[in-house]
Amino acid sequence: MVLAGGRGSRAGEGMPKQYREIRGVSLLRRSLIAFCEHPDIDLVRAVIHPEDQHLYDVVARDLPLEPPVFGGDTRQESGFNGLESFIEYSPSKILIHDAARPFVAAETITRIVRALDSSTAALAASKITDTVKKQDKAGYVYETIDREELWRAQTPQGFRFDEILAAHIQFRDSSHTDDAAIAEAAGHKVLLVDGNEENFKVTNPEDFMRGEVVSGKEEMASHNTTDLSGIRMGIGFDVHRFGPGDHVILCGVPIPHTHGLLAHSDADVAMHALTDAILGGICAGDIGTHFPPSDMKWKDASSDIFLTEAAEMVTQRNGVINHIDLTIVCETPKIGPHREAMQSRLGEILSMPTQSISIKGTTSEGLGFTGRREGIAAQAAATIWIK
Ligand code: CTP
Ligand code: MG
Repeated sequence: MVLAGGRGSRAGEGMPKQYREIRGVSLLRRSLIAFCEHPDIDLVRAVIHPEDQHLYDVVARDLPLEPPVFGGDTRQESGFNGLESFIEYSPSKILIHDAARPFVAAETITRIVRALDSSTAALAASKITDTVKKQDKAGYVYETIDREELWRAQTPQGFRFDEILAAHIQFRDSSHTDDAAIAEAAGHKVLLVDGNEENFKVTNPEDFMRGEVVSGKEEMASHNTTDLSGIRMGIGFDVHRFGPGDHVILCGVPIPHTHGLLAHSDADVAMHALTDAILGGICAGDIGTHFPPSDMKWKDASSDIFLTEAAEMVTQRNGVINHIDLTIVCETPKIGPHREAMQSRLGEILSMPTQSISIKGTTSEGLGFTGRREGIAAQAAATIWIK
């Protein structure tokens, strides 16, 4: 039984929270699917608010569910209405779950069902890891509680059906915030079973952000070889030779120098390495594949054209560039004085915050072609998240 009869008054503007979506799937639908797909669960029914029937019909459209029943003014009343509606099936066990906990794991459900073989009642919970204090009216701690004994209650909570129905009837006029408390009040022993860390209750507006993160992780974990989503890292490398001139262009920034760099385009070696890193991250060939040097169109071209195009290809694949890291290798010019200008130019082209753009300079200690001041080399890494 999935309880979805609340109004979500703490969750901010919009529809009742259980009908709001995280990555395109509502909280209620996520909760219902978790139970519909579980092999130990025979029947699934939602308890909804009478005004939400039209919202429910969309959420439940293709799921194998019993018809919903209407809840009451409190969670306890909604639970009672739901329990009554199951009498006709005379189930031996029932699990009660909050629709507002959309990330319940199949293993959590399994643990509760198993626990009911030997217990009348069991609830999913997590051990408290913080030290817990009690505060007096003046704001001071008056007691530190031994956290060894403390657990945070989650749902599902599972019960032998006849016992929880009788307990709900017995305590109809008192108020309890969960069903385990009603079972306790009726004198039943309630077993604590490990829940799962992600099984938090969406209560406040910011909990939806946390939900985005959890569902993102789930999606990534389930990604298989045909699914391209996930974090990818591309690397790029480029070299250009010095020639006549009075400046070089690095990351779009002209820097006065004793020489220029030779190339078909503007010879921005750093931007070329970066473009290749981005193309590498999406397995889209290299800069030469897209902008062949044989094509006169790219003669003296400003390299931001290449970088912009590579970034556009990332967007087309539903990706975002999270971070880039560049190393420019040369004895001179010095990179440090121009770092900020380079970061802001790359930030403009890639629409990225400069905090996510790293630019480093190094010499090669006089060794090799860069040490002999014959040219500049650049290496780049790009981290790309494909959604
Ligand atoms: N619930 C219910 N019937 C009620 C109240 C709550 O079925 N009269 C359900 C909610 O839909 C939710 C679960 O019980 O899935 C836990 O309640 P809570 O998180 O408090 O949700 P709301 O009552 O909807 O939120 P709020 O208290 O912020 O209004
Ligand atoms: Mg409530």
